[in-house]
Amino acid sequence: MQSISIDNKEFIPYISKDKITLLVEHVAQKINNELCNEDVVFIGVLNGSFIFMADLIREINFHVTISFIKLASYQADKSSGEVKQIIGLNIDLKGKTVVIVEDIIDTGITLEYLLKQIEQQQPAKIKVASMFFKPKACKMPVHIDYLGTEIPNDFVIGYGLDYNGFGRNLPDLYRLKS
Ligand code: IMP
Ligand code: MG
Repeated sequence: MQSISIDNKEFIPYISKDKITLLVEHVAQKINNELCNEDVVFIGVLNGSFIFMADLIREINFHVTISFIKLASYQADKSSGEVKQIIGLNIDLKGKTVVIVEDIIDTGITLEYLLKQIEQQQPAKIKVASMFFKPKACKMPVHIDYLGTEIPNDFVIGYGLDYNGFGRNLPDLYRLKS
């Protein structure tokens, strides 16, 4: 794999698409085992989660529903620390098992915001699935029920994740060269 440049920043290959596929299968297996008898709605956090969501739900072997919410906190390669809701939820979550689907949990600010929002709708349970997690960047205690993999505190792109809007379509994960 070759490195990639966006806006004069260099990104180097980090996790291959084959490795990612295995990690997604592993996450799906755990959800299939634990939640197959529940009324589950997956809620993806746009934009970043759309690819993980698409791969994950095709490995789910029982009936589920899906919705998306659109939030933004990042500017270029830094978290702004403030979450903005751009598209809200239009479904009723009361009594459901909600699985939040995130591309990555970094500071944890987005997740905390989302948990508060969803709790207001009185779901039966809230579970969290995230493809990537940066424990060293996390500023709050977070619990991730279904995790692809932990990564170091590097800025990454690919597999849905962007730098200034670019890089989401890369099948592999790349990290910013330091
Ligand atoms: P948090 O609120 O800091 O946990 O970050 C949440 C959102 O920031 C994620 O859902 C991503 O959309 C974005 N983000 C965090 N880290 C990265 C990264 O390394 N690359 C691209 N986007 C990121
Ligand atoms: Mg995101």
